[in-house]
Amino acid sequence: MAYQNLLSEVKDNILYIVINREKALNALNKETLQELADVIAFAEKNEEVRGVILTGAGEKAFVAGADIKEFSNYNGTQGEELARKGQENVFNAIENSSKLFIAAINGFALGGGLELAMACHIRIAADNAKLGLPEVTLGLIPGYGGTQRLTQLVGKGKAIELITTANAISAVEAEKIGLVNYTVPQADLINKAREILDIVKQRAPLAISAAIQAVNASINTDHGFETEIKAFGKCFETDDFKEGVTAFVEKRPAKFSGK
Ligand code: HXC
Repeated sequence: MAYQNLLSEVKDNILYIVINREKALNALNKETLQELADVIAFAEKNEEVRGVILTGAGEKAFVAGADIKEFSNYNGTQGEELARKGQENVFNAIENSSKLFIAAINGFALGGGLELAMACHIRIAADNAKLGLPEVTLGLIPGYGGTQRLTQLVGKGKAIELITTANAISAVEAEKIGLVNYTVPQADLINKAREILDIVKQRAPLAISAAIQAVNASINTDHGFETEIKAFGKCFETDDFKEGVTAFVEKRPAKFSGK
């Protein structure tokens, strides 16, 4: 895959995506969003990919937000379209992916950048990272799901505080409030993400996918328990379930086919 604004590589069943606009602190312009939509769809289709690590180029920024220069003249309709299209094709597509996405937050994660990290299933932050939703400093509010996902992750009180003050917080503070799973030195960031995916890679692919969908249903629908029951039942119809149980009885590691 050749992209203008992304680097991507599949290695040992992990898709590495680097947002590569370092001079603009990896801000999300239209082309980058389209390329992200394409690479997310690739990850979804490609059986070799068992998990995704998403990061930003350089050591300063994960993503400093939507590209402000691009939407400075937008009207209401264009603004709504920007948010809707981005949410559908990128942010929701990551959240609903059957592959586990880990955001490796290597610096500033602001506005659409933090929203991108929050759409991922797991977040790991480098100790120099700064996280925030500064949209109200521009006369805007978050539009890529930030008001919803921040509230889901840290609760209403902290979410309102962070959104209305526009204050950015440190990685350590973000870990304290549950916004990131781990804080690690910058040099260990990708290794920590890989360590998690190396474990997940050994698990049954269809069960991982079902688990993600069921957890998502707990916050995005009013029928989370029913979703879990149905998904649980479906797992019994997979080869992976038979293999998992057989491997347990035979006291050997399971070799899952994802079927
Ligand atoms: C476009 C950006 C950018 C952005 C940085 N740059 N953030 N360009 N969009 N979001 C560009 C700068 O213009 C500059 O390029 C270069 O990156 C380096 O940035 P500096 O500001 O010179 O760096 P520094 O002084 O170190 O400050 C870093 C920073 C600051 C604190 C991260 O850049 C910043 O505040 N950026 C904006 C953050 C923000 O408000 N994000 C939310 C956007 S709204 P030039 O060529 O000028 O030197 C959003 C809405 C999402 O995300 C929802 C949409 C539906």
